Amino acid sequence: MKKILIANWKMHPTTEVEARKLAKAADAEGVIVCPPFPFLSAVAKVIRKAQLGAQDVFWESEGAFTGEVSAGELKSLKVAAVIIGHSERRMHLGETDEQIAKKVGMALADGITPIVCVGETAGERDQGLTNEVVGRQLRAAFSQIPAGADTERPPIYIAYEPIWAISTNKVGAAAPDESPEDVARMVDYMQGIVRGLPIEPMFLYGGSVREDNLRSFLACPGVSGALVGGASLKPAEFKKMIAQAAGA
Ligand code: PGA
Repeated sequence: MKKILIANWKMHPTTEVEARKLAKAADAEGVIVCPPFPFLSAVAKVIRKAQLGAQDVFWESEGAFTGEVSAGELKSLKVAAVIIGHSERRMHLGETDEQIAKKVGMALADGITPIVCVGETAGERDQGLTNEVVGRQLRAAFSQIPAGADTERPPIYIAYEPIWAISTNKVGAAAPDESPEDVARMVDYMQGIVRGLPIEPMFLYGGSVREDNLRSFLACPGVSGALVGGASLKPAEFKKMIAQAAGA
C-alpha cells in the first residue's frame, strides 16, 4: 500500500528560489508539501503531483486580525491541507486546545484537510501521562467540527508526534528515536479514542523520521504515513523516502 509523506518545512528555506528547488525534489504522488506562507504561490506553480499544504490557519474567516491567514485565503491558493496544533506552536507560542479546535473546525468548514498534531513531552511520558495527554488533545481538537457526515468532509490526518522525539537528528541529541512498538501502541490507543468521535481519520507518525527509520514507522499497524521535518529539507534524502513510501 502506498503511504503518504507530509513535508513540514517549518521556517525554512529563506528564499523563494530555494523553496522552488525543494518543491521540485518533493513533487510526487502522495506527498503534501507545507512551505512557509510566503512561498505557497511559488510552490503551487512548481508542483504537479504533490499537494500543497500550509503550516497554520486562523479560526476566523475574515476581519481585523493582523498577521493571521484564513482557511478561505489558503483555499484560494489551492492549499489542500493544513498542519494544526504543531507542538512548536503549542509549546512556544502558547497555542491552546481550544484554539486548535476552532482551527480544525474552520479548516473542515472550508474543505481543507486538517493535519492535527498531538504528542506528549518527555516529562509527561516519564510520569506515565502519555495516554491522558494525547487523549485530551484529540478529544479537544475535534470538539468543534461542523455538522455533516464524514464522507462529505475532506480527509482528516492525525499525526502522533512525541515532542521529545522531534528534531533529535542533530549530533549529540539527548533523546533516541521513538520505537515503532510504541508508535503502534499509541495508534491503537488513538483509534479507540476516535471511535467515540464523528470522524474517520488516518494516522501518521512524526518525530525525526529519516531515510534510515521511515520503513519501520510505515510498517506500524494503522500508520498511513509520516510527517517529516528536517529530512524534508534534504532533497536527496527526501527523494529516497518518497520512493520508500510509494512502495510501502
Ligand atoms: P523532524 O520534525 O522530522 O525534524 O523531527 C517533525 C515535525 O516537527 O513535524
